[in-house]
Amino acid sequence: MVINVTAATGQLGRKVVRELLDSSDEIVATVRSPDQATDLANRDVEIRRGDYDEPESLHNAFRSTDVLLLIPSIAPVERRVQQHFNALQAAKEAGVTRVVFAGFMAAEPNSKFHIAPYLLYAESKLRLSGLDWTILRDGMYLDPVADWIPDLVQMGRLPYPVDHGRVAYICRDDLARALAAACVGNSHSRELYKLTGPEAISMPELAEAISEATKKPIKFETVTEQEFVEICQAGNESEEMIQTLLSMYRAVENGEFEEVTTDVAMLTGKEPMPIHQFLESRLEV
Ligand SMILES: NC(=O)c1ccc[n+]([C@@H]2O[C@H](COP(=O)([O-])OP(=O)(O)OC[C@H]3O[C@@H](n4cnc5c(N)ncnc54)[C@H](OP(=O)(O)O)[C@@H]3O)[C@@H](O)[C@H]2O)c1
Repeated sequence: MVINVTAATGQLGRKVVRELLDSSDEIVATVRSPDQATDLANRDVEIRRGDYDEPESLHNAFRSTDVLLLIPSIAPVERRVQQHFNALQAAKEAGVTRVVFAGFMAAEPNSKFHIAPYLLYAESKLRLSGLDWTILRDGMYLDPVADWIPDLVQMGRLPYPVDHGRVAYICRDDLARALAAACVGNSHSRELYKLTGPEAISMPELAEAISEATKKPIKFETVTEQEFVEICQAGNESEEMIQTLLSMYRAVENGEFEEVTTDVAMLTGKEPMPIHQFLESRLEV
C-alpha cells in the first residue's frame, strides 16, 4: 500500500513520516518545499512537490496513492477552504482510495474558535467526496507550552485569558503515532476519532506542573485579552496568529478542549503521555 503524507516538512508531518517508516507500506511525502525534505529523502522516502494553492502540483503529487494523510496548512480560513477543495479534487482525480484528515477538536457549529467554519467544511466536504475517509480531531498541542518555558520562568507567571477552561493537551509525538496508525490497514474507514491527552487540566494546574518540572515558581494569572495581545506582540507573534490564539482561548473557556477520550490508546496500543512526564522529558533535552 502507498501512504502519502502531506505537509511532511511540518513539525507534525515529519513525525508521522518517521512513525510510518516502521510499517511495511511504501511512504511518499508531499511537500511544498522539497529542499526542506532532504532528511526524509535520505531515509528512502519518495519526495513529491505539492502546493495546496497549485492544483496541478497536487494532481501529480497524489498519483498512485492508496491512503492520503491530509495535514492542513496554517493559511487563513477562506484560503484553507480553497486548499482543502483543491486537495480533495486532486485526490479524486488521482484515484486515491482513502483520505485521512487531521482536523482539530473545535469542529463544532457553536465553536468560539474562528477556524471552526473551515474545520466543519473540511470534514463535511470529505464525507461527501465519494472517497473513503477517516477523520481525526487533534487535541491542543502541548509542545508550544514547553517551547514557552524560558519566558514563563523569566515572567514567573503563566498568563492566559482564561478563567475556568480545562485542556486535554496532547504532544505531537502521540498525535503522530495515532495519525500513522489510522493510515495503516483498512479498519479505520468511515471512523471519526478524537485524539486527546490523558487528562484535562486547568490553567492553575498547568502552571503548577511547569513549576514542578522547572523547580521555579510560576503562578497562573488570568489576564485580559488586551494584556494577552500585548504579551504576544512582545513575543513577535503576527496579528493573524494573535487573533487565532485569542479565539482559541475563548474556545478553551467554552469547554471545547476538555473532552478526554481513549482513542489514542485504542489506535496505538499506548497511553498518551501525561503532562508532567512530557514537560520533564522536554527539560532533559
Ligand atoms: N493541535 C494544535 O494545537 C495545532 C496548533 C497549531 C496548528 N495546528 C494544525 O496542525 C497542522 C500541522 O501542525 P504543525 O505543527 O506541523 O505546523 P507547521 O510546523 O507550521 O507545518 C505546517 C506545514 O504546512 C505546510 N504548508 C503551508 N502552506 C502550504 C501549502 N500552500 N501547500 C502545502 N503545504 C503547505 C508547510 O510547508 P513549508 O515547510 O513549505 O512551509 C509545513 O509543512 C497545522 O498546519 C495546523 O493546521 C494544530
